[in-house]
Amino acid sequence: MEVVVTTSPGEVAADAIAGHLRPGAVLGLATGSSPLPVYTSLLRRRDTGELSFDSVRAFTLDEYLGLPRSHPQSYHSVIRRDFTDQAGIEVDGPDGEATDVPAEAARYEAAIAAAGGIDVQLLGIGTDGHIGFNEPGSSLASRTRTKTLTPRTREDNARFFGSVDEVPIHVLTQGLGTILEARHVVLVATGPAKAAAVAAAVEGPVSAYCPASVLQLHPHVTCVVDPDAAADL
Ligand code: GLP
Repeated sequence: MEVVVTTSPGEVAADAIAGHLRPGAVLGLATGSSPLPVYTSLLRRRDTGELSFDSVRAFTLDEYLGLPRSHPQSYHSVIRRDFTDQAGIEVDGPDGEATDVPAEAARYEAAIAAAGGIDVQLLGIGTDGHIGFNEPGSSLASRTRTKTLTPRTREDNARFFGSVDEVPIHVLTQGLGTILEARHVVLVATGPAKAAAVAAAVEGPVSAYCPASVLQLHPHVTCVVDPDAAADL
């Protein structure tokens, strides 16, 4: 695993992603605040003609179950607002309104495979070490499926909703095994609240207690952290 400590994580992660951009490229996108500087940088580079999103497709990691796609905090709405609508990129994601959840999970896995797999997957990390919505205890070989959020993750994400009670309890997320199939993984973490999770992911044992630690098994991971998130390394 390559670990880059930098005061410009958005630029460094955008460099890594830009290296994969070509017609037909398949991006794996993440929601949350950590990837926002990456999207800003990529859009700026597109505006200056440095790169192009022509014929690029994208898949998201996860979605809240039971939240309509039109809800402003559905990850479908969030990723379109934060990046893909501005980039002109077609994006697919797990359908949080699916009534047959296992069938939707299977559809999503098949859609990623039919696209040829993900060239580069951007990831944030939860304070408990989750990636996507693979909470601690997730099988290291898991595929897209439903998960129950921990109280800590619901509290972390309450800032996007009116209150913690409005944060959905169940989600659909790519599994750790699904994420490991991306050809390159770029994880971005910033701020002191992520320091413990980053240290456990990078230097701890590979364990379901810290789902991000599974990335130690992947042959091509770039972990981009600011000095605060690197404090416990
Ligand atoms: C959510 C998302 C994760 C994301 C995490 C951290 O739980 N499902 O994909 O990595 O939040 O978000 P942030 O970057 O806002 O701290």
